[in-house]
Amino acid sequence: MGILRTVRPIFATGGFALATRYDDVKEVFANNAAFGVSYRENLDVITGGAPFFLGMGDTAQYRTQLQAMRQVVLASDLPRLGDEAEARARAIIDASGGEVEVVSLVRKVAFDLTGWYFGVPEPKRGRLDVWGSRLFEFQFTGSVADKDWLAEAEELATAFRDHIDAVIADRKKSGATADDVLQRCLASQAEGKAGYSDAEIRTAILCMVVGGPPQPPMVVPQGIEQLLLRDDWLAAAGEAARSSNDRRLHDILFEAMRFDPLAPGLKRVTLVDYRLARGTSRETAIPKGATVIAAFASAMMDGRRVPEPSRFDPDRQPHEYMHFGHGLHECFGRAINHATLHRMIKPLLEKAGLRRAEGRAGRLTKRGVFAERLVVRYG
Ligand code: HEM
Repeated sequence: MGILRTVRPIFATGGFALATRYDDVKEVFANNAAFGVSYRENLDVITGGAPFFLGMGDTAQYRTQLQAMRQVVLASDLPRLGDEAEARARAIIDASGGEVEVVSLVRKVAFDLTGWYFGVPEPKRGRLDVWGSRLFEFQFTGSVADKDWLAEAEELATAFRDHIDAVIADRKKSGATADDVLQRCLASQAEGKAGYSDAEIRTAILCMVVGGPPQPPMVVPQGIEQLLLRDDWLAAAGEAARSSNDRRLHDILFEAMRFDPLAPGLKRVTLVDYRLARGTSRETAIPKGATVIAAFASAMMDGRRVPEPSRFDPDRQPHEYMHFGHGLHECFGRAINHATLHRMIKPLLEKAGLRRAEGRAGRLTKRGVFAERLVVRYG
């Protein structure tokens, strides 16, 4: 990518283009009239055809749905979410006997936390983390043309939708109350507010559980792997964790994640014929209907906008990061991520003598972009 950023920053051929520089990646994300998302087809399989805002352009329906969720996912919840993430991780680590597999630790904490916060308990048959992770994988790397995968996704999604429908019905029937997102949705429904029919509540909560918690078990272990490569920053993270300097721990983890973020890039489709980076020497024509990859991992390494990008520097400015996308579809859960990701591994980083397990188990393995396994030991 470094070479491309210099010699061919916008790599375009036929119906495909790859934007590698910070400015061009931001231009792709920022221009919704020219670059649309292509998530709808797979999302429809998950939601059973109900629209969800990730699959939409900048429409009135997008704004209504987003607003409905913003009214029930509150900034005032963030401290509680951070504390809960840390407490759940601590309970698992304290029972670990000195050896922890980081991907499963973060997956367990992320799904339990999201289920608890949104109001979706574990189903009697099946598991939220299995349903959510597999459907996330289908959403972002699957295709409806793959009939086996489509059949599996339809089966899991049907079970997931039925489960949330049953949870909504139970909550209404029992009259139970809880301080969670589902309860706030039902209160808004009772007040007759727009965006809170049973189907809209089910779709939004389903997509949050499928779209959110599968990602911390990707990026957080990747961040830990980057720290394990750097003794001085692993020590600094340990010091921040032990002194409960959460701000510093957050900044170290997010900088570590810059060296191995979620994915190389995000996909868009051109809605019109378009000239990217117009007026520059790299101006490139991209035809309508082309697939465009906005390489945000490369953008975060672009020295034209990110000073000394190969230097590990937790004191960077917020705009140097693009972990959660940019523009219209920028991650809905980004404030939750800023409040929780570092807290999920704080109790681990606190431990003295944190190190890789011996052999292959102590090296992060991945399946495609999905982190699979990383075992560490302490004490
Ligand atoms: C490590 C954690 C996470 C990462 C790295 C992440 C990353 C992202 C990225 C890159 C996007 C933009 C997609 C695009 O533009 O094509 C996005 C969108 C989104 N994320 Fe996250 N996310 C995370 C956690 C969460 C959580 C916890 C939630 C909800 C509880 C969530 C809900 C969403 C939703 C609903 C969207 C779509 C927003 C829209 O279309 O306006 N994410 N996320």
